Amino acid sequence: MSILNFGSLNLDYTYRVSHIAAPGETLTSRSLEVRPGGKGLNQSVSLARAGAVVCHAGLIGEDGRILEESCRESGVDTQFIGVSDVRTGNAIIQVDDSGQNCIILFPGANRAVDEQFADRVLESFGSEDHILLQNEISSLPYIIDRAWERGMKIILNPSPMDERLKECDLEKVWLFILNEVEGAQLTGMKEPEEILQEMRRRYPGARIVLTLGADGSMYSGEGKVLRQKIFPAETVDTTGAGDTFSGYFITEYLASGDAASALRRASMASAIAVSRKGAAEAVPEMEEVIRMLRERGSL
Ligand code: RIB
Repeated sequence: MSILNFGSLNLDYTYRVSHIAAPGETLTSRSLEVRPGGKGLNQSVSLARAGAVVCHAGLIGEDGRILEESCRESGVDTQFIGVSDVRTGNAIIQVDDSGQNCIILFPGANRAVDEQFADRVLESFGSEDHILLQNEISSLPYIIDRAWERGMKIILNPSPMDERLKECDLEKVWLFILNEVEGAQLTGMKEPEEILQEMRRRYPGARIVLTLGADGSMYSGEGKVLRQKIFPAETVDTTGAGDTFSGYFITEYLASGDAASALRRASMASAIAVSRKGAAEAVPEMEEVIRMLRERGSL
């Protein structure tokens, strides 16, 4: 069994600023760093560092070879990372003094994913495999339908949420991982319990992980609801913390079926990630996550 992560690869241009720029304001940044990112790439790196067998599929431009390299160095299978004529996707990220961020995306090659490329990738995978998707690439509805036909279990992180998701058949999703804002947009509900209830009503066959920022996270599946608190950490940069969470949750959940343990590991991994700069580069290795859980008496 392996995980195919069909997702974005971005060059993240991260500007450190005193505060997030307001409309009409010109703000001078303190620094600029260019790092590997993209929800897809970050989640592949997180899966690999958590110990999963992961293959990343996606497109970069000639200017994005460093992203393929970064995946490979983390142990991700890169055979389905293709090079298109379109330039690599990028993200303009402001990170303020409290570590919060604000992101503008330029999709670039991520939106050059077409049905032909999807078919070529998917023919190597089948009912033993899981597919992980986010909402930063093109052809998502097609990929969901074809993966479903092949019997793959579909894991969806519907982020960033936009109108394009309405074209996807979400009833085919096996596991949702989403935050409370996305949950509210998807269901029209506000409170976490209501969001989960409405998700269960609409997608009765799916398991759901709902992240709640400082309020932790919840899991709904197998007829039970679980809650996990955050592990407090000094916040340096929150970029990619949700991606770290997703990779760690998925890895442990698929390996052991123990959702409580998966929430715990994911929470600790994302607490470590926010205490560091960057997205993919901030994802901890599994040994560190286990050591920290042991130190906090949570293992
Ligand atoms: O989730 C964080 C990621 O969102 C960044 O790495 C950026 O590239 C955007 O895709």
